[in-house]
Amino acid sequence: MILRSQVAGCGAYLPERVITNRELAGRLDTSDEWIRQRTGIGERRVAAPGELTSDLALRAAERALASAGMNGSDLDLLVLATATPDNTFPATAAKVQARLGMVRGAAFDVQAVCAGFIFALSVADNALRLGQARTALVIGAELISPFMDWSDRDVAVLFGDGAAAVVLEASEREEGVLAEKLGCYGDAREILRVQGMGGRYANRGVLYGITRWQFEGQEIFKRAVQGMSGACEDTLTRLNVKPQDVDLVVPHQANLRILEAVAKRAHLPMERVYVNIQRYGNMSAATVPVALCEALEEQRVRPGALLLMPGFGGGLSYCAHVVRWGSRTTPLKSSAVELPPNERPALQIIRECLERKTRPSAAAPTTPFA
Ligand code: UT7
Repeated sequence: MILRSQVAGCGAYLPERVITNRELAGRLDTSDEWIRQRTGIGERRVAAPGELTSDLALRAAERALASAGMNGSDLDLLVLATATPDNTFPATAAKVQARLGMVRGAAFDVQAVCAGFIFALSVADNALRLGQARTALVIGAELISPFMDWSDRDVAVLFGDGAAAVVLEASEREEGVLAEKLGCYGDAREILRVQGMGGRYANRGVLYGITRWQFEGQEIFKRAVQGMSGACEDTLTRLNVKPQDVDLVVPHQANLRILEAVAKRAHLPMERVYVNIQRYGNMSAATVPVALCEALEEQRVRPGALLLMPGFGGGLSYCAHVVRWGSRTTPLKSSAVELPPNERPALQIIRECLERKTRPSAAAPTTPFA
């Protein structure tokens, strides 16, 4: 008997505040036209001050559990993908576990930057296949805005905050993750690096949150196309599936031109590629599960559909999963959980963020060690 991981539910949570290209162009030497043409991005979300990755993750998790008709106490495993944890330790997953009322099993974080959710999906899928767990929650959640260098147009226009989660359930049916490919171009790790986050900077007078992005856009672009299209071809060939048999591609969304290039190389028509980058930009580990939730809501995922989910990110990590969807494409229940309303406009949040970086004494009145 082969066990597989069937997707039983999914849910997303996007912060309320939106920042448009035009608003960014009022602060940076850029334009709506440039951003749209070069990336496909129109706007992105920014979390409210005080909102943490765990807050976004918790809301997404509650929605995913409702959609699967489950509670936190039904879970055996929680894997949370993030590059922006609340703390380096304890894991953000541990906080979400406690707040969900999950009483058994492991909860831990996975870090593969933008590819993190798909890597986390593999970890959970393997645990279910091995019988270590029967139900698992896999979350992709990122709070990038506090770590963004809002004065650097090369990166400030590209990213956004968000979270989404899926519930997996062990199944004996030929559903769920059918094939996977995970890889990493470690030799290219320095072409996408956020300076200022990590042990390399500890005790060197760097204030946490003051970052400088080392970012070679064109080189990342080339490796992303190579890694994602290669991983797509690899998984499809192993399953003996032709590109035309794929019903929907749900990819990591970093740049619309990257998606077009991957689709061309992997012989996948763009009409079958789900794109929502125009609304959110690159939300790193949250991008793929948010896209999956929206594709379901828009009824782009049919019962029994064959999905292809390629991703890439810092590392440079790359991956692709082939997932056979089950018979249910609608949620069992819905959850209306929201974070408290946020009165601040997005631009004000960014302004305050920059101010706190340049004048640390202007930081929030509460101690950061609370
Ligand atoms: O998930 C992993 C995250 N990584 C990525 O998503 C990165 C992948 N790479 C990309 O998406 C693209 O390489 C970028 C969108 C980052 C850049 O697009 P590009 O077509 O490769 O542009 P470029 O870097 O070749 O820059 C072209 C020009 C340059 O000016 P000059 O030298 O031609 O005068 C840049 O300085 O565009 C300039 N530029 C901008 N102009 C207006 C760069 N950023 C901007 C900007 N607004 N925001």
